[in-house]
Amino acid sequence: MIIGGPASQLLAGRVATTLNETLALCDYKTFPDGESYSQIVTQLDDEIAIIQSTPTDRDLVYLLQLLDICRGRRVSLVIPYFGYARQDKIFKPGEPMTARALATALNPFLQNGSVHLVNIHAPSIMAHFQCPIDNLDATALLAERVGSMGLVDTVVISPDKGAVAMAKTAAACLGCDSDYLQKTRLSGTEVSMAPKEVAVKGRDVVIFDDMIATGGTMAMAISFLRQQGARRVFLAAVHPVLTGSAILKLYRSGVEAVVATDTLDKGVSTVSVAPLIAKALRS
Ligand code: R5P
Repeated sequence: MIIGGPASQLLAGRVATTLNETLALCDYKTFPDGESYSQIVTQLDDEIAIIQSTPTDRDLVYLLQLLDICRGRRVSLVIPYFGYARQDKIFKPGEPMTARALATALNPFLQNGSVHLVNIHAPSIMAHFQCPIDNLDATALLAERVGSMGLVDTVVISPDKGAVAMAKTAAACLGCDSDYLQKTRLSGTEVSMAPKEVAVKGRDVVIFDDMIATGGTMAMAISFLRQQGARRVFLAAVHPVLTGSAILKLYRSGVEAVVATDTLDKGVSTVSVAPLIAKALRS
């Protein structure tokens, strides 16, 4: 039985259809005082897959509620987009390691279970879970879509060193070369790019990254590559967090198109990770 959390209803539906499994009927509400309410209306099976991304604190509460409802059953927990994954370290004294705190809160519900993440920002987070866990990679699915978009003389670019492995995987799928930019994060909303010559003149460029949040990284990278003579710049990202006016920033910077997956359900989520998740659950 598949249980779709409120942040992952469409993806849960796609996974249930792919696996030909029952999709539970759930009710999600907010009480007048702002507290969240969940109910699984369908009678539960013994083996359950919960699919719920956690882009907001409220989504985390819904996830805890669903896990509590399923207590005592064998649960495969799929968190397609794991919020707080960028708080994977204590960067300054006095800070929490929030990703670890969340794993610690989820562990008691997963004693007979497993966890499936998708392109987790920091794979070190997986060590904080005490059950079998895997990190599914959607890069090839994104590359497959990009490959069907008619790009000419393609080069894949990573906006920083953190996405180099992803860019290399994408370039191997597309049969082209890759390079990376040197981004420094100045604050939650500001980044800078160190000067660097990249061989993009007259070529179609695809920037691959795990997520687009404020759009600051991608907007800076698009402008940088266009200044270096890129013909067209496309973006491919697994998690379209897209806060505030991120999409406007990207198009103002001159992006040709944005391709992302349905780990978060946004207008640009045109590539589904359902086949990846279905395969992981089946095995
Ligand atoms: C950072 O290392 C990530 O891979 C992304 O590059 C970053 O989180 C994107 O954030 P934003 O869109 O706010 O620049």
